[in-house]
Amino acid sequence: MTGFKGPNRVFSGVQPSGGMHLGNYLGAIRKFVGMQATHDCYFCVVDMHAITVFQDPKKLREQTYHVVASYLAAGIDPEKAVVLLQSAVPAHAELAWILNCVARLGWLDRMTQFKDKAGKDKERASVGLYAYPVLMAADILVYKATHVPVGEDQKQHLELARDVAGKFNREFGVADFFPLPEPLIKGPGARVMSLRDGTAKMSKSDPSEQATIYLSDDADAIARKIKKAKTDPEPLPSDVAGLEHRPEAANLVGVYSALSGRTAADVLKEFGGEGFGKFKPALADLVVEKLAPIGAELRRLEADRAYLRRVLMDGAARAAAVADKTVAEVKEIVGFVV
Ligand code: TYM
Repeated sequence: MTGFKGPNRVFSGVQPSGGMHLGNYLGAIRKFVGMQATHDCYFCVVDMHAITVFQDPKKLREQTYHVVASYLAAGIDPEKAVVLLQSAVPAHAELAWILNCVARLGWLDRMTQFKDKAGKDKERASVGLYAYPVLMAADILVYKATHVPVGEDQKQHLELARDVAGKFNREFGVADFFPLPEPLIKGPGARVMSLRDGTAKMSKSDPSEQATIYLSDDADAIARKIKKAKTDPEPLPSDVAGLEHRPEAANLVGVYSALSGRTAADVLKEFGGEGFGKFKPALADLVVEKLAPIGAELRRLEADRAYLRRVLMDGAARAAAVADKTVAEVKEIVGFVV
C-alpha cells in the first residue's frame, strides 16, 4: 500500500455472460458475503464488460437479473452493500476513457486473458475486449477501492489496475490520489477447475454442461455431475503432496475443503486411501447441502424482476454519489474545464 488516506473500500464485479457457477461462488461471491458486515462494499454486475464479446441482447438482460439474484441468494444484503449495474453508473465509462490515455499498449499486450479470448484471429477481436482491463481499473478506481476480492484468474488484471493507478498518480503529481488496490485471492476455491478437465478452469462458457456446477442446478443435477466427474484410477492420497500431478483429484479435494472450511490435509486425513466411489458421494452431499438452498432462493428471486430492478437502481444512485465525485476530481486534475 502507499500513503493513501481514504477509507478502506471493497469493489468487485461479475460478468452477466452466462450462468453463475461454483467457481464464481467460491472464488468471488462467497468472499463478498463475508466482507459486507465489516467493509464498505460495492458489488457490480459488469454488463459493459460482457459486451466485449457479442451477447444476444435478450439473454444479456436475463443474465443480468440472474447475477443480481445470485448475489442476493448467496447472502449479499443490498441494505449493507451497494449492488449496482455498471452501465447505470456512467462514471465508469468516463473514467475508463481517461485511463485509456494513461495505460500503455505494451501493458495490454501482455494480458493473457485477451490472448485466450481473442484466440488466433486477434484482428477480429473487438477493441473493447482489448481495453477490457482498463475498464476494470476504472470500475475499481472510480470508488478509490482499496481491496478487490476475486478468483485467481483476475490476478493479472489487478496488477494492471495497480499500474494504471500508480502511473496516474505520478504523471499528474497527485501522490496517493488513487490507492493501489489490493487483490484478495487467497484461500481454497480461488481456482475451481472443470469437472471434465482438471487443467482447465470452470467457466461460464464451457460448451460441456457436465463440466460446470451451476448455482441453479438442483440436487439431482449436482449429484449426477459429481458422479460423472473425471478422475484417475488411484485412491486418494493421504497427504497433500500426493495430489501433485493429479489435477482432477486435487480439484475435487479443493472443492471439498473450500465448502467444508477444512484444510485439504484434514480432508485427506479422513479420505486418504479411499477410492472415488466413497469420496464422490460425500462430496456430492456437501455440495448439495451448501448450494441447494442458494439455488432455491435464486429461482425465487429471479422471478421477482421488479424487486431486482429496484435493488439495481437504488444501488446505482448510491454508487454514483461516490463515483461522480471521483470523476469530477479527475477532470480537474487532468485539466478539463469544469
Ligand atoms: P468473471 O465474471 O469471469 O468472474 C467473476 C468472479 O468469479 C471468479 N471466477 C472463479 N474463481 C474461481 N474458480 C473459477 N473457475 C472461477 N471463474 C471465475 C473470477 O475470478 C471473478 O472474481 N473481469 C472480471 C469482472 C470484473 C471485475 C471488475 C472484477 C469487471 N470489473 C473489477 C473485480 C474488479 C470477470 O470477468 O469476472
